[in-house]
Amino acid sequence: MNYKMLIHGGKPLKGSIDIQGAKNAALPVIASSLLLRDKTLRLRRVPKLQDIFTMADLLRHLGASVHFKDNEMSIFVPEELNWETPKSLVRKMRASSLVLGPLLARTKRAILPLPGGCAIGSRPIDLHLKGLARLGANIDLVHGAVHASAETLKGSKIYLDFPSVGATENLLMAAVFAEGETVIENAAREPEIKNLIETLNLMGCPIEGAGTGTLHIQGIGDLEGGEIEIIPDRIEASTYLIAGAATGGDVTVSRVIPEHLDAITAKLEEAGVGIEADEDRVRAFLKDPMKSVSLKTLPYPGFPTDVQPQFTALMAISEGTSIIQEGVFESRFLHVSELKRMGANIELQGNTAVVSGVRSLNGADVRATDLRAGAALVIAGLSTPDETSLFGLGHIWRGYERMDEKIRSLGGQVKIVVSEENGDLKW
Ligand code: EPZ
Repeated sequence: MNYKMLIHGGKPLKGSIDIQGAKNAALPVIASSLLLRDKTLRLRRVPKLQDIFTMADLLRHLGASVHFKDNEMSIFVPEELNWETPKSLVRKMRASSLVLGPLLARTKRAILPLPGGCAIGSRPIDLHLKGLARLGANIDLVHGAVHASAETLKGSKIYLDFPSVGATENLLMAAVFAEGETVIENAAREPEIKNLIETLNLMGCPIEGAGTGTLHIQGIGDLEGGEIEIIPDRIEASTYLIAGAATGGDVTVSRVIPEHLDAITAKLEEAGVGIEADEDRVRAFLKDPMKSVSLKTLPYPGFPTDVQPQFTALMAISEGTSIIQEGVFESRFLHVSELKRMGANIELQGNTAVVSGVRSLNGADVRATDLRAGAALVIAGLSTPDETSLFGLGHIWRGYERMDEKIRSLGGQVKIVVSEENGDLKW
């Protein structure tokens, strides 16, 4: 069955919405439960998303019992675990690679099919593997799968060539049972990593340096179960603030941590959007006509790459010219061709998009190529009174809980309908 999102835009979004727990915090925290032995990890504020269901299925395949209801998850991990991850699940979601570190630490071996590249580049895991080798793991590539093994892991100093989020998370988890201290330098500093460190700390592993680029992990013998709350999703929150600005509306996102949104709200203010914040809410409202601003995406606390497509859509209808540089992924502009089908005036020069704002976009049939590209096209559709049909909704459902309901609660006209066509371009 094919579905599409029908969007009739042109109306300002107004009101307040609660933000979901962060997908990119929940995924590594769920993977970290594999370090437990006959114990349970409980999680609150877990978003109901396809990627979370996929990770839960992966843990069940490895031998864990996972119960997930009303945004609460409990994971019991037995003494005996399987250590081979199925290709079908790894191919479905790159974040499956986050079980590599905990599995290796817990069972002394792991087999992981190499995650495929996707719409945003080749996305290798070489930094993960180099770091595990530094801890003493044997790493072989056999028929496109990583075969990792280690009788014991030894604490070591690891320098990451790039502050990779996934590599930092995998190495943090692998270091928990290593002998002695592990130091990870040039580590990623995203808030989602702090949530993982908080989880490992509460399970009994002393880790210092959360939020900085240098992490110290003291290896220990065993962990305790516990309960953790997942932090709010700063990317979802940013998406709705930008949608508010793009429709000339007034949107408040609640249950957020405002400082996690600093890079985005600073750019929105520079573009003429009014921003107000209190302890757990941020409001964006159109104060002046949108002006074009330029940016480069960078690791946290820089402007997040996961908000680049959405911001590009906003710049497509802002006055002037904006230079958007993608500094994290080798290619993350597949949304540009779809935005151009809606009348956007964007020129790609390598990893830079030159966006010349137009007064208004036109409705069109467009397709999401990845999660955030899909969000950008929803924003573009909401900005014009025409009708837009968005295909490729599977990407949206991977990362945005009840997006259509949330947009309708803000006065937006969107609905999910069965589609006889699948939205592939017919040339
Ligand atoms: C995480 O992916 C997020 N996913 C991504 O969000 C996010 O875009 C990315 O971090 C950057 O912030 C999850 O947390 C589940 P990286 P990850 O390792 O860990 C290169 C979304 O939309 N690299 O920081 O895969 C890589 O190719 C998703 O929610 C290597 O070269 O990102 C990329 O160019 C999309 N070798 C850059 O580093 C490696 O071993 C950043 O990757 C690892 C990464």
